[in-house]
Amino acid sequence: MASKADVIVGLQWGDEGKGRIVDLYADRYDVIARFAGGDNAGHSIVVGDRELALRIVPSGVMHPNVDLFVGGGTVISLSTLLGELDALAAIGVDIDRVKISDRAQVVFPYHVTRDQARERKRGGNAIGTTGRGIGPAYEDRVARTGIRFDDLLQEQPLAEKLWAKEEAADQVISETLDAARRLRGHIVDGVAYIHDRLGRGKRVLCEGAQGTLLDVGYGTYPFVTSSHTIAGGACTGLGIGPNAIGNVIGVLKAYCTRVGAGPFPSELLDERGERMRRQGGEFGTVTGRPRRCGWLDAVAARYAVALNGLTSAVITKLDVLSGFETLGIITGYRLGGEPASFSDVSDPRLDVEIEELPGWSEPIDGVREIAALPANARRYVERIGELLGVPIECVSVGRERSQLAR
Ligand code: GDP
Ligand code: IMO
Ligand code: MG
Repeated sequence: MASKADVIVGLQWGDEGKGRIVDLYADRYDVIARFAGGDNAGHSIVVGDRELALRIVPSGVMHPNVDLFVGGGTVISLSTLLGELDALAAIGVDIDRVKISDRAQVVFPYHVTRDQARERKRGGNAIGTTGRGIGPAYEDRVARTGIRFDDLLQEQPLAEKLWAKEEAADQVISETLDAARRLRGHIVDGVAYIHDRLGRGKRVLCEGAQGTLLDVGYGTYPFVTSSHTIAGGACTGLGIGPNAIGNVIGVLKAYCTRVGAGPFPSELLDERGERMRRQGGEFGTVTGRPRRCGWLDAVAARYAVALNGLTSAVITKLDVLSGFETLGIITGYRLGGEPASFSDVSDPRLDVEIEELPGWSEPIDGVREIAALPANARRYVERIGELLGVPIECVSVGRERSQLAR
């Protein structure tokens, strides 16, 4: 019987711990399928003393029996992909099971150049992109001038397409032809691949990148990425219908972070934000930039629940909050004294309502049951559950796979 695919998405501005949770859940699935973004993503997983920071290959990679698929909604740098495959092969990971959709778009060095040049030109209004050419690659896709992985399958037509592009230097052309030769065995008919697996009842988990509030249509535009990061992106990014989706699981960090510019109503610019950054190791996986930190924003989180059709949530990094005397949760937005909604997030006059909860002092990274958390930590988790309106499946209390409270 045909099966339904579950989806994991980030509920904030990325770096919620999606990779860590996909790694945790991967043994329940046969296929992990990345559906959007490119090497702007950095998904860290820690198993024992082994640590991986994945950019493209799905986060199920440390489970030997799971197949790994990169869908047609992604934009992929060939050099990043090859580098990642080589690094994984070097630690003994079987990379033959990594397959890439023929519909995925190729990110070229000229996309990177365009991205970085545009950011420089914006000066003080820069978006703070990861500088990986993601926006320009998606622009070429929409402009119908992009080169896809199916183009990599035939050398002569590929060379001709690249020659026709003024931006593609000779070196880019020869590197692309080399990379194409190496990647050929990984490229599949992406639609046939995923429908074959679902049709045979295989369990598929769709791995999102970035976060809901970075969605190109529904995030804090224009301070967003260039793809649909929400659960609907799994349909368009893999070529499956909405009725093929089962559960939608959201990953929510116990506080908020954001890399790059743009509105962040709950940001803490004081010692408390600094402390979150330090205790949470909040520095970008891809760019090393310090992440901006702030209280959990339940207005934004509820917006994310609606956009994704969320069925449950996982809370991450609760351990980072040990030692805060009190914790804040943003429960309302206001404009000129009147109630406001997430759609007003970019208004500079926006005020927030903060609910204060008592903190806890003990470290909790060794706790394995929600019931065994300090009373105030349990209360914080319960309050988040109430505000989201969906069940909380589990709470992550550390980076390592086993550091989980159920
Ligand atoms: P992703 O992009 O959503 O996959 O998240 P990242 O991997 O970019 O960032 C999350 C960071 O937090 C990584 O360094 C993880 O190892 C780490 N992390 C994940 N869950 C936890 C947790 O529960 N506690 C702590 N202390 N760190 C965590
Ligand atoms: P993961 O999957 C956090 C942010 C960038 C910038 C904006 C646009 O690890 O959660 P882009 O390079 O995509 O054009 O940059 O989006 N951004 C992320 N922030 N985590 C990510 O991915 C991100 N991917 C992009 O910082 O603000
Ligand atoms: Mg990340």
